Formats: sequence, structure tokens, C-alpha cells
Amino acid sequence: MTQSTDRVYSAFTEAYGHSPALVWAAPGRVNLIGEHTDYNEGFVLPFALAQRTAVAAAAVERPEWTVRSESANETVNFGADHLRPGRVTGWAAYVAGVVWALRDAGFDPPGARLAVTSDVPVGAGLSSSAALECAVLATMLELAGATDAVPTPRWPALAQRAENAYVGVPCGIMDQAAATLSRSGHALFLDCRTLATEHVPFALTEARLAMLIINTRAPHRHAGGEYAARRTTCEAAARILGVPALRDVSDLPAALAALPDQVSRQRVRHVVTEDERVHRTVGLLRSGRTAEIGPLLSASHASLRDDYEVTVPELDVAADAAERAGALGARMTGGGFGGCVIALVSAAGVSDVADAVAKAFAARGFAAPATFVARPAAGVARVTANRSRVAGPG
Ligand code: GLA
Repeated sequence: MTQSTDRVYSAFTEAYGHSPALVWAAPGRVNLIGEHTDYNEGFVLPFALAQRTAVAAAAVERPEWTVRSESANETVNFGADHLRPGRVTGWAAYVAGVVWALRDAGFDPPGARLAVTSDVPVGAGLSSSAALECAVLATMLELAGATDAVPTPRWPALAQRAENAYVGVPCGIMDQAAATLSRSGHALFLDCRTLATEHVPFALTEARLAMLIINTRAPHRHAGGEYAARRTTCEAAARILGVPALRDVSDLPAALAALPDQVSRQRVRHVVTEDERVHRTVGLLRSGRTAEIGPLLSASHASLRDDYEVTVPELDVAADAAERAGALGARMTGGGFGGCVIALVSAAGVSDVADAVAKAFAARGFAAPATFVARPAAGVARVTANRSRVAGPG
């Protein structure tokens, strides 16, 4: 199948009978490490995928937005009166939410015709929604005359606001930051409080390593409610401990002793130790010791399973089977309750690990997993008119 960035031109032309004025594409992401730390104002280390969501657009005179989605096989219209949280629902809420967030922040995005195509798997925990938000954000900013095509830390903040306040999902800023600020060949070390970034070299090929992504295809069970509950528990624990956010806990044993219940102690232990693991991972990557991050990935998974309790059997079986088959480390990535496991494997061992996971799934009666090898890619970028090259940072 052709890439989303190629298909989006014909999707737009077929829908509207003329060419688009501009096209932007934003990637899905995996998180290398730093899970459930973003909304605790801590540290994350995601990287962008090659799989992208492309948005083609052209301005229209009236404040009306028409959006054609190839994957939903649907066209949705909304006007200025729909630019109130909750008025547009389903996939188009991510589009309307961005237009709303831009207007709320003082931009003046014109009415527009848009077409959306995507290669980012939906419902796999690879942030297809952030990819859509960030591609729409870039197109609408350019149509509003507000950008010279350079994403800034304000971009993820605007996209996150669309998702938090318009769509109603209380996510942190990691996914939108990865979709906008990532650089090819690097992981994005992000301080979620200050939004300071460092592009950390993530040299897989040179180290004869590969990052295998295992989509467990486990349905997201209770993901929304459980996610919000984790966030609430963390915020309550920070209040009890008298710190602005769990990122500020500096003495873990003292914090654990001060918390009144076992659940809070587990959640805090995960967040504090996970921030430490992010820093240790960054330290190893900075000095080119890529293979040595494996145990940190596995320790992250154990913490998410035992303390944060966001794994499901499919995630645990995939991580365990990958390690038994020789992976240097493996962990769930994203919010949990389904989605993907990432496994750091030797380049020569990719098929052995993928086969072992498939066998373990069959033995447990799970649906067959899907696997692919990920390469750290660039964040959102304008797609040039010759359609074959993605321009922009990274
Ligand atoms: C989801 C959210 C992110 C982050 C992760 C967990 O992907 O969208 O903001 O909280 O879960 O690390």
C-alpha cells in the first residue's frame, strides 16, 4: 500500500475536486521509557515512528470545516457553533478540538477543507490520536499564517489542550511532544514540567540492534477510567506529601512511610523509580551504550505490572516471551491495558523473538500479535509538493 503522505493528495482531490493548498504529516510514537510520568511533571523518552497521519488542507471563505477521513470512510462538517467542548464527537473531535484550542489561544484559523489518511494503527497505543491532532495543528497554523514551519514546544501544549479540554481525555503531554518535536535517529528526552528537550542519539543499526514492536491486539479494557484513576491517585499523593507533583519526591523511603495506604505507596514508588530509570537510560544512550538499556526496560515493565498495575496478561506474556527468546529487555509502552510491547533485540534475533511471542500467544489462546521493527523517525513535517520527501526538522 502507498504511504499516507502519497494517498492524501488523491483523497483530498476525490473529495473536493481540486488540489490541496498544503499537506503536513505527523508520526505515531512509542515510548522507550518513562511511563505514567508525564502527568506527574516528570521525564519521558519517546521516539517517533515512520508511520504517519497525513492531513491535506485548503482554506475556504466561511468559518466551516469539512473533514474527509479515509480510514473512517466518512466526511464530517462542523461550523463555529460546534467549537465548544463536546459538540463534535468521535474521530472528528480531535480535529474540531484543535481548531477550538487554536481559537481559544488567540489564533484565527480560517474555515477549511481537510482530508486525512493514516498509517498509524488505531487502538494499538501508538498515539494515532496525537498524530491526527498534531498534523491538523500544523495545517491550521499554516493556514492561519502563524508559522514558518518550525514546531515549537507550544505546539504539543496546544494539541494536548485540544485532547484534555475538547475531547475530554486527561492525557499528559508526551504523545503530542513526540509527534511534534522528535528527530530522526534520536529519542526525545523531555522534561514534562519545563518542556526542555534533548535529542538523545538512539543508534540501533550501528549497534546491530533492533527495536521490535509487538502489537498484542489486546482490546483496551477499562483504559480510560483506569488512566484517570491513576492520575487522581498520584495527584492526591503529591498533596499528602506536600509537593507540587510526584516529580519532586526526593526521598522515596520517607515518602512511602508518609503515605497512608498501600495503593498510593505502589503508585508513588513506580513514578519515582521510573523517573530514575529514564535518567539512567539517557545516560547510557548519551555514551553510546545502547545495548545496556535492556535491564532498565525490563525493570520498567515489572514496575508497571506490579506497582502501577496497568498491564494485562497479553502484555506480560509478550514481554516475558521476548526476553526468554533473547531480547535484551522488553516492556509495555504507552498507557497500558492493551496496546504494544517493545523489545530491544539483536538485529539477527528479530525473527526468533517474533516467532517466540507468536507461539506463546497461541499457547495461551490469544489472538496472533502483529510485529514490526521501528526506526526512530522525525516529528511533524510539511510534505513537499513532489510528494516523495518529507521536509522539516530532523
Ligand atoms: C498515554 C497518555 C500519555 C502518557 C502515557 C503513559 O499514552 O496519552 O500522556 O501518560 O499514556 O505514559
